[in-house]
Amino acid sequence: METLKAIASRFSCRKFVKGTMKEEDKRAILEAGMSAPSAMNRRPYDLIVIEDPEVLRPLEGSKPTLGLFYDNPLSVLIVVDEEKNPKMEFQEQDAAAVAENMLLAATDLGYGSLWAGITEKSDFQAGLAKIFGIPAGHRPAILLSFGIKGEHKEERPSRYEEAKIHHGRW
Ligand SMILES: Cc1cc2nc3c(=O)[nH]c(=O)nc-3n(C[C@H](O)[C@H](O)[C@H](O)COP(=O)(O)O)c2cc1C
Repeated sequence: METLKAIASRFSCRKFVKGTMKEEDKRAILEAGMSAPSAMNRRPYDLIVIEDPEVLRPLEGSKPTLGLFYDNPLSVLIVVDEEKNPKMEFQEQDAAAVAENMLLAATDLGYGSLWAGITEKSDFQAGLAKIFGIPAGHRPAILLSFGIKGEHKEERPSRYEEAKIHHGRW
């Protein structure tokens, strides 16, 4: 699949069915994430690989989206390191680049994917830190889940909006 095709075909999959993923596909998704651009190439993140999504169940009260993940062979928690680049605070941007690369890689490989946002200082964020033993100075930033699509979407219409484009200046 071509990159532009993967970009156009990616969608937030909210219906997954039970199934497995090849180990090499999991690895390819993780590797795509770690191939993302990063400020000063500091790559201020760690990735928690979750192959037993049942561990997330206690947090469903604070994040209902988790209810969609229980059939999925792979979820990934992107944890940012507050101490790498502390003054430049590019951790969020770096983490988002990792996430998008993983979503596109999963699309390319034929899997469904969903991004579950983590609100700063939320009960959900604290719960993730506790369950996964995240050390001080690190914080859960983005949770992604990957699996077998139980819904299929037509390639979506373009979201290009001319009104949002400002040529030269606002
Ligand atoms: C930062 C961020 C947080 C998101 N959090 C959630 C979430 O908690 N639950 C969910 O179902 N989708 C979540 N999404 C997915 C968006 O709802 C989705 O990308 C958007 O509606 C556009 O649809 P599409 O991904 O199918 O193109 C999130 C996406 C982003 C970028």
